[in-house]
Amino acid sequence: MSFDCRKNNLTSSIKPNMTQDELKTLVGQAALHYVEPGSIVGVGTGSTVNKFIDALATMKDRIAGAVSSSVASTERLHALGIKVFDATEVDELAVYIDGADEIDHAGHMIKGGGAALTREKIVAAQSRQFVCIADESKLVQTLGNFAVPVEVIPMAEKRIARQFAALGGTATLRLKEGAPLVTDNGQHILDVTGLKISDPLAFESQVNQWPGVVTVGVFAFQKASVCLLGTSGGVKTLVF
Ligand code: 5RP
Repeated sequence: MSFDCRKNNLTSSIKPNMTQDELKTLVGQAALHYVEPGSIVGVGTGSTVNKFIDALATMKDRIAGAVSSSVASTERLHALGIKVFDATEVDELAVYIDGADEIDHAGHMIKGGGAALTREKIVAAQSRQFVCIADESKLVQTLGNFAVPVEVIPMAEKRIARQFAALGGTATLRLKEGAPLVTDNGQHILDVTGLKISDPLAFESQVNQWPGVVTVGVFAFQKASVCLLGTSGGVKTLVF
């Protein structure tokens, strides 16, 4: 990892004791720097990405549109007048902008806190560059403090939970209003605690092979190439 000390025009927005919400706004705006005029932008999901979408709306007449990773982001993009393309209409995207629940010093991430991990990984895989936007609380030495989201086919969820137990993890079915949360793809989410993921590539490969796993929320193969980290000193750019 290296630090890119590029100055951006947001230094005037830095104030002491910025809230997490203000840091998200700062990195959401900083991500505009990576959007190529005339392009279609890959857009992730979550509260940090919502700040990016709001910023993107200020240049909506200078982009062709977006490919979205969730129903929620699609709705926000539409509401702000940004055209949304289906992923199948586009061959390759120059850049994908998304948040993370954790990111390590090599750009590996845990994602899926917003249950959008499968489409996020699909759009990331279609993109040349993954720009992660996050506040500094997300930067960790080793992935695994945040429960790892895993999208699963419901008929396999009990067996998959037992497979995680054999690795020392505890898998909990994610609920919404007392019932299993149903993803945009009609599946369920297991949140797995108790794992220390010291080899993210090996972990992602292993869990991907379990029947019934749709997507594991470790992004090692689709890791970030750049992270714009919101800190009290401004936006730090980490290049992986
Ligand atoms: C959604 C995600 C989000 O990127 C992740 O949960 C971070 O969200 P936020 O920006 O709200 O902290 O992976 O599935």
